Amino acid sequence: MSRVFSGIQPSGELHIGNYLGAVKNWVELQDSHECFICIVDYHAITQAYEVGTLQRRTLEMAMGLLAAGIDPGKCVLFVQSHVVEHTELAWVFTTVTPIGELERMTQFKDKSRRQESVLAGLLNYPVLQAADVLLYKADLVPVGEDQVQHVELMREVARKWNAKYHAGYFPEPQADIGKAKRIQGLDGRGKMSKSLGNTIGILDEPDQIWERIRPAKTDPARVRRTDPGTPEICNMYALHQHFSSPPVVQEVAEKCRTAGWGCIECKRVLADNIAEAFAPMRQRAKELAEAPERVGQILAEGAEKARVVARETMAGVRAHMGLLPVALREPAER
Ligand code: TYM
Repeated sequence: MSRVFSGIQPSGELHIGNYLGAVKNWVELQDSHECFICIVDYHAITQAYEVGTLQRRTLEMAMGLLAAGIDPGKCVLFVQSHVVEHTELAWVFTTVTPIGELERMTQFKDKSRRQESVLAGLLNYPVLQAADVLLYKADLVPVGEDQVQHVELMREVARKWNAKYHAGYFPEPQADIGKAKRIQGLDGRGKMSKSLGNTIGILDEPDQIWERIRPAKTDPARVRRTDPGTPEICNMYALHQHFSSPPVVQEVAEKCRTAGWGCIECKRVLADNIAEAFAPMRQRAKELAEAPERVGQILAEGAEKARVVARETMAGVRAHMGLLPVALREPAER
């Protein structure tokens, strides 16, 4: 059985891009695979963030994932900074990763443009991501398309470390890209992203979903109600394909092409279907919000399980690299 690892930053709400691109896949994989799902707070601090809200956002992300169907009985859900070996292995990997490889990462190029002086943490972001996955010797990484380059880099890091220290120690992980590899944002200007404010949260109430969809960008050719459109270039149609039944999807396409519906009618059906799809999750989230201590406990138990694997991997890493063991190193000491 292959082992799955994936992560998500606690940098905002869990949105339908995250859900369709990654989280939905995690929920399915937990039935057939050993899964580690990590809330990556050390990644989230590589960009400007609010110190006062990070704890809350981390807990909310955990609640969102549990509401979405992540089951702590089937998979290990934990917070990255609770397992110190992530940063330890990341350091080790910086010693086998060429800077040139990091500088050509598209996410680094995009994000570094937004920083006044480029920080080493942003450059090393994919090294920490490699450590996340390889610490568990995971070989399958379910992610959206925007993470493929980072998964390729972790394969290279694994190859380089193995070549230098111990052949075959780390597997070369494969990205597992779902059907919804890239969900567009509601503003029509690129992918749906927490930092761009063009999202629909999976826990949004029906009226919030409507408020977000109502002004969303559609086919620009449809200026007047009577102008026909091209569904294939409209993001609303793309979303219908994920949330509406096949006959409705067909009806949407027809009524767009023939101007049988105005965009607002098309959006109303979409908003209702999205609200309905996430109704059970909103319900679960309400139950979890009433027992926040339960969420903390799940994360603590997850970190405990993750640590067992992480310590074993790091012990092997240190041994193969010739580092001196502490004679009395007790797990409890650290
Ligand atoms: P993050 O937090 O940006 O996103 C979490 C997951 O959601 C996917 N995703 C999308 N998929 C389709 N369409 C979209 N609009 C969309 N937006 C986000 C992302 O591809 C991702 O799978 N660097 C990672 C977190 C990370 C990680 C890891 C992932 C840290 N360590 C180890 C896998 C393995 C990130 O920032 O994801």
